[in-house]
Amino acid sequence: MNEQALTVREAIVGRRSIKKFNGQPVDREDLFNIIDDAVWAPNHQNREPWRLIVACGKELKKLHELLRDTTIPDWRTLSEDEVEKRMQKFTTPGAYVFVIVPEDPRQKERLEDFAAACALIQNMMLLAWDYGIGTCWKTPEFLDNPAFREKLGVKPGERIVGMVQFGYFDELPKGKERKKSDEIVTIFGSDQEENDED
Ligand SMILES: Cc1cc2nc3c(=O)[nH]c(=O)nc-3n(C[C@H](O)[C@H](O)[C@H](O)COP(=O)(O)O)c2cc1C
Repeated sequence: MNEQALTVREAIVGRRSIKKFNGQPVDREDLFNIIDDAVWAPNHQNREPWRLIVACGKELKKLHELLRDTTIPDWRTLSEDEVEKRMQKFTTPGAYVFVIVPEDPRQKERLEDFAAACALIQNMMLLAWDYGIGTCWKTPEFLDNPAFREKLGVKPGERIVGMVQFGYFDELPKGKERKKSDEIVTIFGSDQEENDED
């Protein structure tokens, strides 16, 4: 257990997506502790439908190469500096977790499994925040690129729910204000009352 202990509310409200990491490595043990706690996410029928592909520490170099080959196919024609600059958004996080679910042919189960994996991801991000580790859940188009999927180790019939970057950061981004409850809530029956008055 890490020393920090945010309240649930502090973690939920205070967490921000980190898009600028400082390159500091993420400890593998911390990452695995986070994963071991995050799996307590709700999931229908306890299917625990997820599996995770992780890169942290020594595996990162190979993942960076895959991300480079996928996102900058003409990287060989560019200067080393240019490639390094374009790759910064991929090379500065200290760890990656790709969250994968089966594409169940039954729509209800498929959506449930996807939803459960989303809950797992949010758990990971909140737990990481409590360790002082920032995260960003990303869904770039290349997650559906067949060559990328194959090289990552994703099997046919599986879907990548997200690529979650983990890492340390120097600046805390300001969150965008959220809509308040009175803007998003309809009191059950109130629409009906308005209609009744007509
Ligand atoms: C399903 C999902 C996909 C996202 N994909 C991306 C992405 O591809 N790139 C990115 O920079 N941020 C991505 N984000 C992060 C959002 O930009 C971020 O959550 C949003 O700006 C709110 O900021 P906050 O998380 O700091 O409150 C994604 C978030 C979610 C939930």
